[in-house]
Amino acid sequence: MQTDNIYAFILGNNKALSLAELAMVLKREEFIFVVLSITATVAIIKTDKNIFEPQKMLDRMGGIIKIIQLEKLGSTHSIKDRIFDKIKKLDTSSKIVFGISGYDWPYHSTHQINGLGINIKKNLAKARFVNLKEKTFLSSAEINRNQILKKGLEICLLSDSQKQSIYLGQTLAIQNYLSYGLRDYKKPQRDTKSGMLPPKLAQIMINLGSGSHQQNIFIYDPFCGTGTILVEGLLSGHSVMGSDSSPEAIRQSKENIDNKKLDLHERQRASISLFVQDAQSIDKIKLPQNPNLVISELYLGPPLNFLPSDERIKNDTKKLIKLYLNFLKSVKRIHSIKTLVLAMPYYNSDKGPILLDIIDEIDSIGYTRMDPLRGISVPAQFLAGFNQKRKTLLYAIPDQIVGREIIILKKYEKIVEEIFS
Ligand SMILES: C[S@@+](CC[C@H](N)C(=O)[O-])C[C@H]1O[C@@H](n2cnc3c(N)ncnc32)[C@H](O)[C@@H]1O
Repeated sequence: MQTDNIYAFILGNNKALSLAELAMVLKREEFIFVVLSITATVAIIKTDKNIFEPQKMLDRMGGIIKIIQLEKLGSTHSIKDRIFDKIKKLDTSSKIVFGISGYDWPYHSTHQINGLGINIKKNLAKARFVNLKEKTFLSSAEINRNQILKKGLEICLLSDSQKQSIYLGQTLAIQNYLSYGLRDYKKPQRDTKSGMLPPKLAQIMINLGSGSHQQNIFIYDPFCGTGTILVEGLLSGHSVMGSDSSPEAIRQSKENIDNKKLDLHERQRASISLFVQDAQSIDKIKLPQNPNLVISELYLGPPLNFLPSDERIKNDTKKLIKLYLNFLKSVKRIHSIKTLVLAMPYYNSDKGPILLDIIDEIDSIGYTRMDPLRGISVPAQFLAGFNQKRKTLLYAIPDQIVGREIIILKKYEKIVEEIFS
């Protein structure tokens, strides 16, 4: 590693998923990296090269909220002087807007960070400091509303998990929450009964699957519903194919893909196919294309307003497991498909998550479950979202009865190919 490129990635709500996505994206983009620190909020990473287009990278990641470039501070450095130096490098002919956020920052409260900002502002001719409110950091909405990245900068103060190193950073990119809104609750066709995948989770799943396919990713969603995965695949520049047993779902997917409000210009170059098909027999038809990656949220069962009885869970899951195994056997026979990233349901109970009893059977069909966090020592705070034994990640939305368990499967020949490549 020649240069010191140190970056902080602010993790989303489902920490283990965010971390797995980050590791996979860095691998896909051919970064050599070491993890310097992981806390409940931030992963600090040292890379062998610069992140060339940080906003573009972040726009494709559902689990990361900010990318910040860091410099390590020594004990003799004055934080105030350092911030001042950074601001002075900007074009000061027009009014500068700046903010200061603290992540895992042990030395100052919100009040003290605001004091530092006001103090710095006093020494600047034309500047506006955006105060912190309740939290020790500025949200993407606050940064956006105040045009901080356009008219100035956000400074971030961070410490590592051991509280041994301190860093000063400048935010390079923030999550585009407006665009997620447009792709989520403002999309033309919605289906609250069958459930829809949050676009951020769709992006995470695509990234988890595309780590070892640098080029020519062709995504197939055989339970496409309203087409969330297809839209996110297209936005990432991939070709997509979707099918569903319901003609209504195919109509909805079509309309969501044609949504004029989305900047789907990439899709002009990409291929799109949609058709009605039972996922249990996809090997029996001639598929219109040859996808290499299945990304899919499987049918989750009937919608639930309360946790069903143990008996009902047993009956419902028995049916779902039969459907999933038939589907997996069918996909096994499609040669072009090498990797699958699937979302399966689990039930949130007071005693902990109730997971599907399906793992042994998946293994026996001939799939290999991939560890999404291999090579990373996962901090204890992350273990609620990571099942080490099953090698799966859990995605939960507070108060939802049904959560999603994310599993990455590879066919044997794909693994041999990766070992020898
Ligand atoms: C949870 S929804 C998928 C939602 C989708 N991810 C979205 O964001 O809109 C599951 C879908 O599976 C479809 N489905 C159920 N059984 C199926 C089967 N045997 N083959 C194909 N699709 C099936 C349903 O029609 C439904 O659209």
